[in-house]
Amino acid sequence: MKLHSTYCSLFLKLTFILAFTACLANAAVHHHEFVIQPTPVNRLCQTQHVMTVNGQFPGPTLEVHNGDTLIIKVTNAGKYDISLHWHGIRQMRNPWADGPEYVTQCPMKPGVSYTYRFTIENQEGTLWWHAHSKWLRATIYGALIIYPKQGSSYPYPKPKREFPLILGEWWNRDPMHVLRQAKITGAAANVSDAYTINGQPGDLYPCSNKDTTIFPVEAGETILLRIINAALNQQLFFSIANHQMTVVEADAIYTKPFITNVVMIGPGQTTNVLVTANQPPGHYYMAATAYSSAPNVAYDNTTTTAILEYKSAACKSKTGSPMRPILPQLPAWNDTNTANAFKAQFRSLSKGRVPLEIHENLFFTINLGLINCSGPSFRCQGPNNTRFTASMNNVSFVFPKRNSIMQALYQNTPGVFTTDFPPVPPLQFDYTGNVSRGLWTPARGTKLYKLKYGSHVQIILQSTNIVTIEDHPMHLHGYHFFVVGSGKGNFNPRTDPARFNLVDPPERNTIGTTPGGWVAIRFVADNPGVWLMHCHLDVHIGWGLAMAFLVENGVGKLNSVEPPPPQLPQC
Ligand code: C2O
Repeated sequence: MKLHSTYCSLFLKLTFILAFTACLANAAVHHHEFVIQPTPVNRLCQTQHVMTVNGQFPGPTLEVHNGDTLIIKVTNAGKYDISLHWHGIRQMRNPWADGPEYVTQCPMKPGVSYTYRFTIENQEGTLWWHAHSKWLRATIYGALIIYPKQGSSYPYPKPKREFPLILGEWWNRDPMHVLRQAKITGAAANVSDAYTINGQPGDLYPCSNKDTTIFPVEAGETILLRIINAALNQQLFFSIANHQMTVVEADAIYTKPFITNVVMIGPGQTTNVLVTANQPPGHYYMAATAYSSAPNVAYDNTTTTAILEYKSAACKSKTGSPMRPILPQLPAWNDTNTANAFKAQFRSLSKGRVPLEIHENLFFTINLGLINCSGPSFRCQGPNNTRFTASMNNVSFVFPKRNSIMQALYQNTPGVFTTDFPPVPPLQFDYTGNVSRGLWTPARGTKLYKLKYGSHVQIILQSTNIVTIEDHPMHLHGYHFFVVGSGKGNFNPRTDPARFNLVDPPERNTIGTTPGGWVAIRFVADNPGVWLMHCHLDVHIGWGLAMAFLVENGVGKLNSVEPPPPQLPQC
C-alpha cells in the first residue's frame, strides 16, 4: 500500500513536471534593463532635460506573447524617487510587481535598482507601462504589446502591419516643476503646451514638422493601430482624415468589432483599431485634440498630428508635394454626446462570467473639492482663496510616506493605513444637482476597503457636481472589471439595474464616469493584495482622488499573495 502510494505520487509529480515543461516550452522569458536618466529632449523650439528610460522618449516598447514572463531590472540614475507600473497587467497574487509608490512598494531612491518580475496570464492586446511617482509619467512611458499565445492568432484577420500610437502631453518646462508650483499655490496645474503622437507634436506646432510621426501603408492593406492615451490630464478625440476605424480591442480585451470615425480615449485606456488604406494614395492627417468634459476648466486646446502615408505617394512628399494632407473633422472639445455614444458601442467579444449575485454592493462618489485656506495668499490660489482637493466618498486619499501599504501589511506595521473606507457616502445628497458649499470639503485618510477573497463586487461610480461635473477616467489596479451600465444624473437603485448589460458588457481596467452621471462596474475579487483605484488624471490623483482595496488571501498558497521578492526597495 505504502509502496503503491509512493509510486503513485511519483507518477503524478512526473506528469506534472512534463506538463509544466511543455507549457514552458513556448512561453519565453524576456530580460530588459531600464535606466531612468535625465535626457535632453528638444520639442517646440527648445530643449528640456526630462527623465526618460534609456534616453528614449517615448520609452522602449515591450513585446511579449500571452504566457511569457518579463524580468525588468530598473535602475534609478535620475534625481527623483521613482517606481514603475505595468498598467493593466493583472499581476495575479503578485502586487509586489504592480508599482504604485507607497501602495505596493516604496519608490526607488536615486541610485537604487529593483527588478520587476511578472508573468502574463490570459491577457492579450495592448497595455502600457509608466512611472507611478508624482508627474514623472509625463515622459516615462511606453507600449506593452501582448501578442496571442504562441501558435494562436487574433480573432480578426491578421493586419499587414502594426504600430503603437501613443498619445502624450508635453510641457515647455520640467513637468515636476509644473506639479511643484501647483502644490505650492493650491491652484490647478498649468495645462500642457502640446499633445504628442509617439513623442512628436506634429506639423501644427512650431519647430515640429520635420519630426512629425509617419505611419507608412501600402494602398489596399489593413493595418492595426494600438492607440494608448498616456496623456497626463486629458481625454482625447482621435480621427484619421477620410478613413474609418474598426475597434477590435480595448484595455487588452477583445471587443465585438465596430466601425467609427472618431475614438475617444481617456488617460490609462488603450484602444486597438484596424484601418484599411482604401483611399486615393496620398497623405492623410491623423489628429488628436482635447475632449474636456468640465465646463469652465482650462485645457490645452491644441491639436497633435501624425501622417498616414501611402508608400506610393511617399516620394512626392520629399520633393515637396503641393498638397498638404487633409485634416480630419474632430468633435468640439465639449462634445459629451459623441464621447458617450462612442463608449456605448463597446461589447466584449467573449460572452460571460459576469458575476450575477453580488456580495459587496458599493457606491462611491467621485468628488472634486475646495479647502478653505487661511495661509499666505500665494498658498491659496484656488477659486476664492481656496486650495483644490478631491475625494471618493468624502475621503481624500493620503499616500503614506514612511512605508508602502503592502510592506506595512506584510510586516504587520500598524499606523500606516486603516480599513474603514466607507462602502457608501457618509451623507446622501443630490449628487449631480447644486451641491451645497458645506459638502465641498472632504476628510483626509489612508483608508482601504477590505474584500473577501472571491467575493462578487459591484461599484457604482457616481460623479458629482462638487466644483464641477467631469468625466473621470477611473482605473483599478490588478483587475479588469465589467462595465455593466452607465447613465446621466443620480444612479437610481430601483430602476437602473434593470437596464444593466449582464450578457456581453465590455471589460476594462479604466472607465470614465459619465460627466454628471454614473457608471456601474462588477468584478470578482480573485486577486489578493492591495490594489489602488484612482482617477487617471494626474492632477486629480494628486488632490486625493483615490482609494485602495485590500483583497484578503484565499485558502492555501495558490490563492494567497506570494512572498515579497528580494531587494524590494525600502522607504
Ligand atoms: Cu496607469 Cu495607477 O495607473
